[in-house]
Parts: sequence; structure tokens; C-alpha cells
Amino acid sequence: MKLRQWTTVGVVAVLTVAALNTVPATAGRPYDPTAQSLGALGLRHGLQVGTAVNMDALNDAGDPQYRALASSEFTSVTAENVMKWEVLEPTRGTYDWAAADQLIDFAKRNRQSVRGHVLVWHNQLPAWLTSGVADGSINKQELRELLRKHITTVANRYKGKIWQWDVVNEAVSDPWDTPSTLHYKGFWAENLGPGYIADAFRWARAADPKALLFYNDYNIEAFGSGNPADDKTQFVYEMTRGLRAQGVPIDGVGSQGHLGTQYGNFDTLQVTAALKKFSGLGVATAFTEVDVRSQMTAGVQAGNAEEINPRLQASAANFSVLMKACLAVRSCLSYTVWGFSDRHSWVPDWFDDPPEGLATIYDENYQPKRAYQELKSDLILAGPPYVQPRSTPRPRR
Ligand code: XIL
Repeated sequence: MKLRQWTTVGVVAVLTVAALNTVPATAGRPYDPTAQSLGALGLRHGLQVGTAVNMDALNDAGDPQYRALASSEFTSVTAENVMKWEVLEPTRGTYDWAAADQLIDFAKRNRQSVRGHVLVWHNQLPAWLTSGVADGSINKQELRELLRKHITTVANRYKGKIWQWDVVNEAVSDPWDTPSTLHYKGFWAENLGPGYIADAFRWARAADPKALLFYNDYNIEAFGSGNPADDKTQFVYEMTRGLRAQGVPIDGVGSQGHLGTQYGNFDTLQVTAALKKFSGLGVATAFTEVDVRSQMTAGVQAGNAEEINPRLQASAANFSVLMKACLAVRSCLSYTVWGFSDRHSWVPDWFDDPPEGLATIYDENYQPKRAYQELKSDLILAGPPYVQPRSTPRPRR
């Protein structure tokens, strides 16, 4: 009996090896994984490799490479801006779906999944909403009702078309804020109190029973002191644990992954440990907005290779750390970059004192940088036993 079992295993193994050796070869050419897209290589692990999409760039007829790479290199897309409240409802009561619908259509044509971004955030809110609250013409009760309606309207419109929703974004302060003790920050916490977070997940679930509902934040790549008063990762961990304990339908925690080469950052095992700890709560994880910026010194701007090289190398290493950690943890469902080319990155617009840049995986002329090659090799070199297929949670009711 034992022998027969082993024989069967042996035959299966031989057949499997034969299949692996023959299947990918095309027309007599050996299989060359480096010729595959990041997205295709990710699928070997069940991992979606995505990008944020800038709709102006996507629609620019003079910039065809943007559209070509956005459709060919990634299996998932996120709206960089066009699903934010200020874009969707610029005038109270009048939704403009045009740009968001266009992204959904683009994804469908390219068989890409969509990360919805974002239902609740304190930034990029319509002026009518923030000024109405400021001048008292919108009271707290009305504000809560407006939030419920917004979440319901947007999640309902895209029901069945969104794989993961960033339901609540960046709700937690940073140690450099005042007060420095970590707390729930921003417009929503200030006006409604932290209970808006659980409400938001419940409203999103009621509108879309199938999407995976995420909390999304930055500076939560690894644990620090373990004290939630100063360790943001710990704060978010305890928040997630609390929400799960209350039965709130939160399915995932997204770590944005906005890094800078001037900082200490983390190693692969530290990031892996953090993803594993979150998975222990029963939630999925994802890297949702990865980019690794550098300071643009006068030397960098003048093209000095001695200043540029260490930046490109450090950027590549940090992209790779997050990818390896993601691969190592089965709950890590997707790895999304926040724009793929330095031609369209948000970094130079947002970090200008001192100026920063060089944050993405392709340069301004769409040439792949070291970061791109490192992500590719991470995806190629990974596999069992250490890297296993993804494990997807069922959306929580
Ligand atoms: C950024 C966009 O990239 C910019 O184009 C926009 O002007 C501001 O917002 N965290 C988030 C994203 O969750 O929505 C932000 O996107 C970047 C930081």
C-alpha cells in the first residue's frame, strides 16, 4: 500500500515536471520569465500587481506609452483621484461618474480587477461639504447622513465591479502631529467621533456584499515600540482587532507603502512579521500605494550619477522588501504602485521642500528602472515551499 502510494506520487511528480518544462515554451523558444509582465508573473502566486491610474495621462493621445503600460503590465488598477468625493460630487446632489466609469471600463477591457479608492477620507472633499460644516449650515446629524448616502451611492453604483474598496483612509495621526499621542485625526473624527469608522464599513457592506472592505493607511509597514501611543502600526492593529471583535465587516488592512530613501525603513522580515500579525486577526493585507521617493539635490537634478545611483538602488531595495514580504504572507493579495512612471508621479508635486522625486519603477521616458527589475526578479524567484498561493478571505457579513 505504502509502495503504491509512493509510486503514484512518483508518476505524478514526473508528469508535473514534464509539464512544467514543456508548457510555457512557445514555438520552440525556451520560456523566458523576464519577458513576462509583472502582472503575469504575479499571477503565478495568485498575487495581483497593480497601479494607480492617472486619467489625464490615460486619455492623453500624445502619451500612448502610458496607456500601453497601464494595460499590459498590471492586473489591477486603482483610481488615483477620480473616485474621490470632490471629483464624484463637485456640486451637492449632482454626481459626475464619467471619469470613474471610464476607469472601470478600461479595467474590464483589459481584464483587470479594480481597487476602489476611496469612500471616506479627510482630503479631497468637496468644498460645499467642508464649508457647509465650517459655517454651520450642515449640522453633525446631517453630516453623518451625508456620509451614509455617499458611501451607499458610490458602493452601490460599482457593486460587483470592485474587488477591494478602501473604505476608510488615513484615519490615524502621526507622531509628528499635535498632540503627538496617536489619535483619530481629521475632518471625520473631529466632526463625528471615531464611531464613523465602524459605521462606514457597515454602510459599505450593506451596499456591496461582495467587495473586500479595507482600512488603508501609511507608515504601517512594520511594528515599532508596540505602544499604541507612539507606534502607528500597533494603533491600527488594535483598531482592527477592536472592529473585528465588534463584528464590523472589515476584510483587510492596506499598507500604502509610501517610502523615502532618506529614512531608515525596514527589512523584509520586519515587514513580513507585520503582515503576519495582521493576518492573525483574520484580515487580508495588501500593499496599496507603493512608491519610494528620494531627495532631488542639486547634484541629482544636474544628472550627477554618483548622487543618482545610490538613490535608484535604495529605491529598488525598498520596493523589493515590500514585494518579498508580500509574497511571503499568503494573506497579502495585491501589490499596487502609486503610479508607474516618474513622468506622472504625484511626488514632485507634493514633496517640494526639499524637492523629492525618482519615486516610481519607470523613468520619465518609460524605461524600466532597477526597481522594476527587482520586482520582476522577486516574482520570478519566488515559489514553494516558502511562497505559497494567496488565501482570499470571504467577505465578512
Ligand atoms: C494623491 C494623488 O496621487 C494626487 O494626484 C492628489 O493630488 C492627492 O492625492 N494617500 C492616498 C492617495 O491615499 O489618495 C493620495 O493620492 C496619496 C496619499
